[in-house]
Amino acid sequence: MELRYLGHAAFEIKEEDKTLLIDPFLKGNPKACAKPEDFEKVDLVFITHAHADHLGDAVEMARITGAKIVAIYDIASWLSERFGIKTVGMNYGRGEIDGFEVVMVPAWHSSSYEGKSIGNACGFIIGIEGKRIYHAGDTCVFSDMKLFAELYPIDIALLPIGGHFTMDILQAVKAAELIKPKIAVPMHYNTWPLVEADAQEFKKRVEELGIKAILLEPGERLRI
Ligand code: NI
Ligand code: MN
Repeated sequence: MELRYLGHAAFEIKEEDKTLLIDPFLKGNPKACAKPEDFEKVDLVFITHAHADHLGDAVEMARITGAKIVAIYDIASWLSERFGIKTVGMNYGRGEIDGFEVVMVPAWHSSSYEGKSIGNACGFIIGIEGKRIYHAGDTCVFSDMKLFAELYPIDIALLPIGGHFTMDILQAVKAAELIKPKIAVPMHYNTWPLVEADAQEFKKRVEELGIKAILLEPGERLRI
């Protein structure tokens, strides 16, 4: 499996002939390393919540590629009604979508689009070929992260560290301690001044716990 950081909270996961995206915010993302039209084939697009820096270009990309959008039920229904795209609505719990294990977990955060609340925020644990990636979405730290990681051991945890809207470094290091992933990767930082964070500091503190941390520049890939 190959993970590519697209900038901010956006990731691409490739496994054999399948391409999955998470929170593909590319246009208007000062850290984006790709454009929506660079993606010709996408199978599933996971959306953690409806904020513009996460929903991003998902609708356009679903239209171009025919990908299905996976989101919490209320956001999925709204997307298919408003934009006429294929969606898979689920809720906090575990399911299987196109052969992938998908565990939708809570994220302590709001969810709105153009000023109106839509659905709830979530994180995703995605199981691919015996490995699991946890994308925490936008959230503060919470102790149930430990519970989910006990039930579904995590290989790679993608954790926001930018603060203000999400966990800061202090909380994200605690999250890594609770989750005990094989690898922790920081996200949602240095996109704008409000979410500035020193990723090296995160890496240092996480590695003091005996957990490997990898800093990905936008465009960088990680193979596991
Ligand atoms: Ni948000
Ligand atoms: Mn955000």
